[in-house]
Amino acid sequence: MLLDNSDEYQYWRDEKLANIPTRLNDCIVEIQNPFKLSNAEKNKIIDLCQRGDFALFQIQPVDQYDKAIISINAQFGLINFDQHLFVKTGGLAHITQSDKKNQSEFIPYTDKNLGWHTDGYYNAIDARIRAFSLFCVNPATQGGVNEWIDPQMIYLLLREDNPDVAKALTHSQAMSIPEHKVDGVVRREKSTGPIFFVDELSESLYMRYTQRKKNIDFLDSTEIKQAVEHLDALLSTKTDYHFQHLMQSGQGLLCNNILHRRNSFTDDSNNPRLLLRGRYFNRIK
Ligand SMILES: [Fe+2]
Repeated sequence: MLLDNSDEYQYWRDEKLANIPTRLNDCIVEIQNPFKLSNAEKNKIIDLCQRGDFALFQIQPVDQYDKAIISINAQFGLINFDQHLFVKTGGLAHITQSDKKNQSEFIPYTDKNLGWHTDGYYNAIDARIRAFSLFCVNPATQGGVNEWIDPQMIYLLLREDNPDVAKALTHSQAMSIPEHKVDGVVRREKSTGPIFFVDELSESLYMRYTQRKKNIDFLDSTEIKQAVEHLDALLSTKTDYHFQHLMQSGQGLLCNNILHRRNSFTDDSNNPRLLLRGRYFNRIK
């Protein structure tokens, strides 16, 4: 497989570099009817997800955005959703500022900056998030820009730059997230695993990562600590493969759990920023 076979890796690398999109405008698909996508719309989104692991889309205003997004996602086979803490009917979480105490402890539900991560990095293997959708109902008054990069490209860039760094991040105990307890009850088991690996189910290179420092343990080894520093340094640069976009009302992202972050924002309390997010167990392909 590509992680330890250099011929396979080189073939995979050349294919990836030949096909990966680098211009945001080439990655936006206008959807006429969210309840019935045309073949052309569908094929374009699938093609973009195969090449660069994401597609942006745009829809016209509708009465119920939840229903429109659930319908779009289902047309890509995104049906089985992660039963996450704050998920509402149909599998979508409303990402907006919350003043509910238990919810506002989680950074996504605040107006704060959110560092680079893949979704569900703390999930057990049988609940691995392979795709997610993020749709903007209402942007913030100011800020809230999203930035993302295909994790497969990050692996490729790291390996081209320094194969030892890429290898260190495939260590089976590279990153651990301690169990999550509430009032002495374990809500989530400890999660230990590599940062890069080939996901058996989809046979695709997968990344599990977060830049948050609280409650994250990296394996106590110089190689791994230095490799994580390399990774963070690469993420903070700008490459042709980094994308940055402020989603407007009616715009959304469909992706194979790309690495992403968000800038802090300022809200209008009468009309707060609202994004709908769905997390799914299968890839878009
Ligand atoms: Fe996220």
